[in-house]
Amino acid sequence: PVTRLADYQPPAWLVPDTTLDVDLRDGHTLVTARLTLRRNPERADKPEDLVLDGEHLELRSLTLDGRELNPGDDYRLDGPRLVIPGAPDHFTLTSVVRIEPENNTALEGLYRSNGMYCTQCEAEGFRRITFFPDRPDVLSRFTTTIHADKSAYPLLLSNGNPVDAGEEQGGRHYATWEDPFPKPCYLFALVAGDLACLSDTFITASGREVALRLYAEHRDLDKLDHAMDSLKRAMAWDERVFGREYDLDIFQIVAVSHFNMGAMENKGLNIFNTSCVLAHPDTTTDAAFERVESVVAHEYFHNWSGNRVTCRDWFQLSLKEGFTVFRDQEFSSDMNSRAVVRVENVDFLVNHQFPEDQGPMAHPVRPAAYQKIDNFYTLTVYEKGAEIVRMQHELLGADDFRRATDLYFERFDGQAVTCDDFVACMEEVSGLDLAQFKRWYSQAGTPVLTVTDDYRDGEYRLTIEQHTPATPGEPDKQPLMIPVKLALLDGQGRPLPLDDQGRAETVVILRETREALSFQLPERPTPSLLRGFSAPVSLRYDFSEEQLVTLLAHDTDGFCRWDAAQRLYFAALARIIDDGESAADQLPRLTPVLERVIARADEDPAQAALLLGLPTENAVGDRHTPLRPQSVHQAVSGLRAAIGEALAEHWWRLAKDLEADAYQGDGAAMGRRRLRRLAIAYLAAAAGQGALDADQVADYVARDFDQPDCMTNALGALRDLVHNGLAQNGRLEAFAERWADEPLVMDQWFAVQASVPGPDTVARAEGLLAHPAFEWTLPNRVRAVVGTLVNGNPSAFHAPDGSGYALFARALKKLDGINPQIAARLASGGARLKRLEPALADQLGAALRDIRPGASANLAEVLDRILGA
Ligand code: ARG
Ligand code: ZN
Repeated sequence: PVTRLADYQPPAWLVPDTTLDVDLRDGHTLVTARLTLRRNPERADKPEDLVLDGEHLELRSLTLDGRELNPGDDYRLDGPRLVIPGAPDHFTLTSVVRIEPENNTALEGLYRSNGMYCTQCEAEGFRRITFFPDRPDVLSRFTTTIHADKSAYPLLLSNGNPVDAGEEQGGRHYATWEDPFPKPCYLFALVAGDLACLSDTFITASGREVALRLYAEHRDLDKLDHAMDSLKRAMAWDERVFGREYDLDIFQIVAVSHFNMGAMENKGLNIFNTSCVLAHPDTTTDAAFERVESVVAHEYFHNWSGNRVTCRDWFQLSLKEGFTVFRDQEFSSDMNSRAVVRVENVDFLVNHQFPEDQGPMAHPVRPAAYQKIDNFYTLTVYEKGAEIVRMQHELLGADDFRRATDLYFERFDGQAVTCDDFVACMEEVSGLDLAQFKRWYSQAGTPVLTVTDDYRDGEYRLTIEQHTPATPGEPDKQPLMIPVKLALLDGQGRPLPLDDQGRAETVVILRETREALSFQLPERPTPSLLRGFSAPVSLRYDFSEEQLVTLLAHDTDGFCRWDAAQRLYFAALARIIDDGESAADQLPRLTPVLERVIARADEDPAQAALLLGLPTENAVGDRHTPLRPQSVHQAVSGLRAAIGEALAEHWWRLAKDLEADAYQGDGAAMGRRRLRRLAIAYLAAAAGQGALDADQVADYVARDFDQPDCMTNALGALRDLVHNGLAQNGRLEAFAERWADEPLVMDQWFAVQASVPGPDTVARAEGLLAHPAFEWTLPNRVRAVVGTLVNGNPSAFHAPDGSGYALFARALKKLDGINPQIAARLASGGARLKRLEPALADQLGAALRDIRPGASANLAEVLDRILGA
C-alpha cells in the first residue's frame, strides 16, 4: 500500500486527552488506554467510521462511554485497524490490550533491552502499544501510569513531570507522569529499569531550574559526563542563538543498547542508542565524542523544532529533521572549528547523500509517496534538508533568519505544520519570493552546475549552466534557485575586488538554466566557486592543476581548499584507473603540494588532516563508470602507500612531534591526534606494501596499542596493524579479551576486522558472524559487521566470486525476520547495483532477487527500487 502526500486529509477525530495505564508483567504487558475523542470540525465530510491504528495487539476489552462493545456489531478489527462504525461526536473510548515486549525484536513500540523496558514510537511504533490515531497531526495530552516489580524496575519514567508514585501489593510499585504539552503519539516514551543516574541542574534564561537526569546501566555511570556537559551547552546555545528555552521541570536521557537509530527526541524523555550518549576516553574515540555532542544537541533542539512545532504528516519529516540537523551543525560549528565542521558536513553530504540522490533510492526532501515511512529517514531528508535550511539562512542573512524562526515558533507553537509553513515565515519576514526556491523540497536529484569562463580585453565572463539529471519517476526537472558564493583570485591567490566597493566575495543567485556574469579584471583569475558550499550541487569546472594548487595553498575558504585537494586526488586516481599510469607517476605532481600543506599543518592540525587524507574507495568508485571495485582499491591503496613512502620523513616527524605527554580531550588535542593518526596510517600503508621497514613501523604503531592513552590511539593502532598485515602478535585476541564487557568497544573490534580490504575479508566476516559475541538482535553489532562490510569495504563486498553478495543476501533474509527496519536500511547497501561492471551486477542482482519473495514491506520497498521493479 502506497501513502501519498496528495491524499492528505485532516484527522476525522481528535484526541484531546490520553490516559495510559501500563502494567508490566513477566511475559506480557497489559495496556489500558482511555482516550477522549471528539470530531474534528475541520473535516467537513464527517466520516461515519472511527478508524484507529493497532498492530500486534491482542484486544482484551473495549468500552465506549462505559458501555462494553461487542466485536462484529460495535466494532471490527480490519488488519492493522480498529473500526468503530457510527461513532458519536464526543465520547470516551477505553481499550485493554495485551502485548509481549519480550518478543519484540523489531525494536518498535514497547520492547526490552538488557533487562529494561523502553519504547521507540517514531514513526509508527505507538500503534504497537495501543489503538490510537497514529499520525503526527493528532496532538494529545498524555497522563501515563506505569506498574512494575519494584526490585527489578525501581525506576519508572515517562514524558512530562512526575505527579504520583507509590507501593503496590506483591513487591510492586507504580508511578504516574503527566505531560502538560499536547503531543503526537510518536513522541510518547516509557522506560522501566534498574539504572544509574547522573544528575545536574540547568537554570534557564528566565531563571527556572530544570533537573537534568541521564540514565544508563550502572556499569556505564562513568560514561555520562560528556553527554551532560554537551546537554548543558546545547541548552544555553539554543537560548542564545534561537531564543528557545526549555519548558518542563525535568529533562531526561536514557541510554539503551538495542536501538534502531541514533536517538529519539521523546518529550522530556529522550532515548538514546548507547553509541550516541556514552563516552569515556578509555573506551570512546574522538570521532564518537564529537558524535555524542552533536546527537545530544540534536535531540535536545527537537524540543522546539519537532515537539513544540511538529509535522502535519510524515511527508514533512524534513521540516523537523532538516531544520534540526542545521541547528546541530551550527551548534557544533560554534563549539569547535567552524571550517573543519563545515568540511566534515560537506564531505558527508557529497560522499553519501549525493550517491543516494543519484541512484535508485533518490527521492525529494519532501517525498510525494512512500510504502514504509521508515525507509525515508534518509540522508536526503536529514542532510540535504539541512542544506536547504542553510541556503535560506544565507539568502535572508542571520538577523532576518532569526526573525523568521521566531515567527515560525510563535505562530505554530502547539501545531502540526508543513515545510510550506516554514518557508512562508522566511518569505514574510524578508519579503523574498521563494516560490522557485521551494522546488528544492519537491524535486529529487543532485543539480549539476557547469561553469565555463573566458577572459578577453579586461573582461572576465563566467557562464553557469544548471541541469538536474533525471531520477526514478521524475524525468523532467525544473531550474532551481541556487545561491553561488564566489570570489576571484589573482596569480598570488589574493582575492580581486569585484566591484567599486572592493568587495572580495559575492553571492550570485541563479534562477535560469543558463546565466552569464561578467567582471572587469586586470588579469585572468582563478575562480573560487561555491564558497562555503553555498548550495548542495555538483560543480563542474575544468580547473587547471595550477589553479587547484593556488586554491589549496591560498584560498581563505575552508571548503574550497578541501575541494581543491579532493580534485587533485581524484585526478591522480583517474590517471591510474583510466590511463594506466602508476601510483609513482603521480608523485612528482602531488608531493610538492602535500608538502606545502604539511608545512602549515600546525596552524590547524584537524584541517590539515582533512586536506591530506585521500578520498574513500566509495567516493572514487562513484566517479568511474562502470564501477570496478578491485581496480579502485588497487589505485587508492597504491597511491596511499606511494605517498606514505615518498613523504615518510614528514610522516615520521609529524607522528613524533604530535605525540602527547598525557591524554587531553579538548578540541586542539583531538585535532593533533587526528593528524598524527593520519601520518601513522600513511606509514603503515607504505610498510604494508613493503616500501618501508615493516618491523620499524610496526614497532612504533604497536606502542600506541600496548600502552594506550585513549581509545582513539589504541583502536587506530590496531586498525593500522590489522589492515596492513603488520605484526599483530595476538593483539586482536588481546583486545577482545580486554574489552569483552564493553559492547561499544567490541563493535569497534568487529568493525576493524570487517573493514580489512580485499575479498578474503568475506570469509573473515563469516567467521565474525559465527563469533559467540555476535548477536543478530543487536543493531549496533549487525551494523559493525554487515554494515561495515557492505557500505565501507567495497573490495570485499564486491568480491569477484560473489561471496560478499551471498553473505549480504543471507544476512538480509535473516534480519528481515528479526528487525525489518534494520534489514531495509542495510539493503540500501546494494544501491550501486546498476553502476557495477556486468559480471558483478549480474551476481548482486540475482542474490537480491532471490530474497525478494516473502520480504517484509520495509525490505521489499528497498529491494524493488534497487532492482528497478
Ligand atoms: N527523530 C529521530 C531523530 O532524531 C529519529 C527516529 C527515527 N526512528 C525510526 N524508526 N525511523 O532523528
Ligand atoms: Zn532528528
